Amino acid sequence: MKIAPSSFTNQPYLIDGKASASQVIASVTAAVRAERQRPGLAVILVGDDPASTVYVRNKSRRAEECGFLSRQYTLSAETRGSELLELIGRLNGDPEIHGILVQLPLPRHIDACRIIKAIDPSKDVDGFHYVNVGHLATGALHEALVPCTPLGALHLIQEVLGDKLCGLHAVVIGRSNIVGKPMANLLLQHDCTVTIVHSRTLSPEAVCRQADIVIAAVGVPGLVKADWVKPGAVVIDVGINRIDHPGDYSRLVGDVDFDEVKTVASAITPVPGGVGPMTIAMLMQNTLNAARRSRIQQASAV
Ligand code: GUN
Repeated sequence: MKIAPSSFTNQPYLIDGKASASQVIASVTAAVRAERQRPGLAVILVGDDPASTVYVRNKSRRAEECGFLSRQYTLSAETRGSELLELIGRLNGDPEIHGILVQLPLPRHIDACRIIKAIDPSKDVDGFHYVNVGHLATGALHEALVPCTPLGALHLIQEVLGDKLCGLHAVVIGRSNIVGKPMANLLLQHDCTVTIVHSRTLSPEAVCRQADIVIAAVGVPGLVKADWVKPGAVVIDVGINRIDHPGDYSRLVGDVDFDEVKTVASAITPVPGGVGPMTIAMLMQNTLNAARRSRIQQASAV
């Protein structure tokens, strides 16, 4: 289904991230079956942060389901940076491994920048290494590995708007290295006019109201209200915030006040079930791409 940003109706199109992620996973799985090489993904967890433990388990499991070689390394919270660097060095040189992911955040005594810089950029399936950041920023998308969450968000935007992003005004709320900045660069590569709104922006709601596409990635539950959104805009909610309720249950909410904003948006992602499932799907796609590139490079070296 394709909706032009101006074709506003009272019933927004609910963007189904689960269904899109399943399609990406199915296509990756089919490609692995058809190609002779098995992509290998190594996922490293340091410490026992409950949320990170769940994310890492899901990534490793999904890799197995796609037919990848899936290796998970679970290290204690006391692991030294030098030990982690040694493991990364071994994985960099392991021909069976095409993707290396170190789950963030790392314990405070480990310098995350140093760790990310130690990963071979051609195996950096998170797209966090400076080389990949540079490829994306300069438009060398064919060489880049692009961060998974922005890639998944773009996939969902294209599901709604097709290739008609040229000239649309996209407002990205949040300037993190993991989502906000790469998201802005990706949209720029697709010819959007891009504005980044952040904690020091004056009148963020007024800037946001100008957007044809809003991408919220700040980690503030329900920040984006109906009066932040131009009628007919496409709204992508990257936030995943756990709200604990006194009666010992908790629920996940996004950065967008869904019940309000659905009355003005033309299309909107729910939380959960929107961008979340796309992150792992794009990780599988990046790992497949990294394995394919390594095969091509090996073939051209002989
Ligand atoms: N922590 C939160 N999101 C991510 C991600 O996309 N990759 C890694 N490695 N850690 C994360």
